[in-house]
Amino acid sequence: MLAMDYRGPYRVRLSEKPMPRILHPQDAIVKVTRSCICGSDLHLYHGMVPDTRVGTTFGHEFCGIVHEVGSAVENLKVGDHVLVPFNIACGKCHFCQQGLFGNCHESNPQATAVGAIFGYSHTAGGYDGGQAEYVRVPYADVGPMVIPDWMDPDDAVLLTDVVPTGYQAAEMGGIQKGDTVVVFGAGPVGIMAARSAWLFGAGRVIVFDEYQYRLDFVRQYAPAEAYNFREIDDVVMFLKKTTDGLGADVVIDAVGGDARGNAWQYVLGSKLKLEAGSATALHWAINGVKKGGVVSIVGVYGPTGNIVPMGNVLNKGLTIRANQASVKRLLPRLIEHVKNGHINPKALITHRVPLEDIADAYHLFAAKLDGCIKPVLVPGGA
Ligand SMILES: NC(=O)c1ccc[n+]([C@@H]2O[C@H](COP(=O)([O-])OP(=O)(O)OC[C@H]3O[C@@H](n4cnc5c(N)ncnc54)[C@H](O)[C@@H]3O)[C@@H](O)[C@H]2O)c1
Ligand SMILES: [Zn+2]
Ligand SMILES: [Zn+2]
Repeated sequence: MLAMDYRGPYRVRLSEKPMPRILHPQDAIVKVTRSCICGSDLHLYHGMVPDTRVGTTFGHEFCGIVHEVGSAVENLKVGDHVLVPFNIACGKCHFCQQGLFGNCHESNPQATAVGAIFGYSHTAGGYDGGQAEYVRVPYADVGPMVIPDWMDPDDAVLLTDVVPTGYQAAEMGGIQKGDTVVVFGAGPVGIMAARSAWLFGAGRVIVFDEYQYRLDFVRQYAPAEAYNFREIDDVVMFLKKTTDGLGADVVIDAVGGDARGNAWQYVLGSKLKLEAGSATALHWAINGVKKGGVVSIVGVYGPTGNIVPMGNVLNKGLTIRANQASVKRLLPRLIEHVKNGHINPKALITHRVPLEDIADAYHLFAAKLDGCIKPVLVPGGA
């Protein structure tokens, strides 16, 4: 079968790989109908995630048709069209039992922090992902969900990560009615966080990014006030000024380690890799939130450390919440939101690219070319 093949930083291609096989009775093999490239894939693509091995296939956002099931699988049958959450979760361990499906203790037993994620390096379990014609899906009775008849698969594929992640970012903010919510990052995740902030009762939503086309999009879609941080001298001061000198009630970091906007952070974190990515948005979040406020982090940083203004966290009395999204926990609620029109996921899809053009698709998304917000990869014959 054909699959995306990581060759080293900034180098991906399509290769012939062996068909995935059932390795455990709870596995399923899924024939991919569409997959996405995510901002999280860019951390891999930029060589920022430890133990990203040459030859692995990325892709943690995908839908597909069940092609084969292991002998213990009860909830799926061959031919079902399923959406597959990006977390690989056993459904039974201490953490899954609490709904922390992103922190499963069984699927990635070597790690102490993250659970397993499809196509996300050996740090996240070493499972191949769905930017391929076929993919092995472990614990097939736990994660995958049959796409409801009424749902467009383009909406479904965004329910595997982007929608739940943006929604959870807002949820972790503990937004109170009327709160001012600031979102750093107008990528798919930040856009969804801004949209979700209203669903939790925000009174004002402000988004920062540097790409005008993304700011224009989020202004309409969320809707939100949207500012280009490149045009602002001091983002923290700007935030204070626009909130009566207090700071925002809730600030969401939907950027993570690929942040721009501070040369030192960029050189130390992203280029020299002396930190786990550049923490520019995180600094702005901690310094721009009000005393007693909440910083909600969904932007991804590597497993080693970052220099963060811990003194300000303490002295301001901040609450910091962060996690990989727990997709399975949120799906029932989000499906209702899609059904009743509160969230329109597929509006984010700007590009539909044949899987063969995987290298172009990565370049397009990484360099933010051609107004790209979310590219969907379509395998030949899907
Ligand atoms: N926690 C989770 O479960 C989870 C799931 C999916 C994605 N993520 C993470 O969320 C982040 C965003 O993902 P995405 O798909 O939207 O990525 P993306 O690359 O499309 O968007 C990131 C945006 O941040 C902007 N940006 C860069 N520096 C900034 C700064 N200092 N301030 C404000 N904006 C800045 C970029 O211009 C870009 O538009 C990534 O770190 C990704 O790894 C986390
Ligand atoms: Zn993703
Ligand atoms: Zn588990």
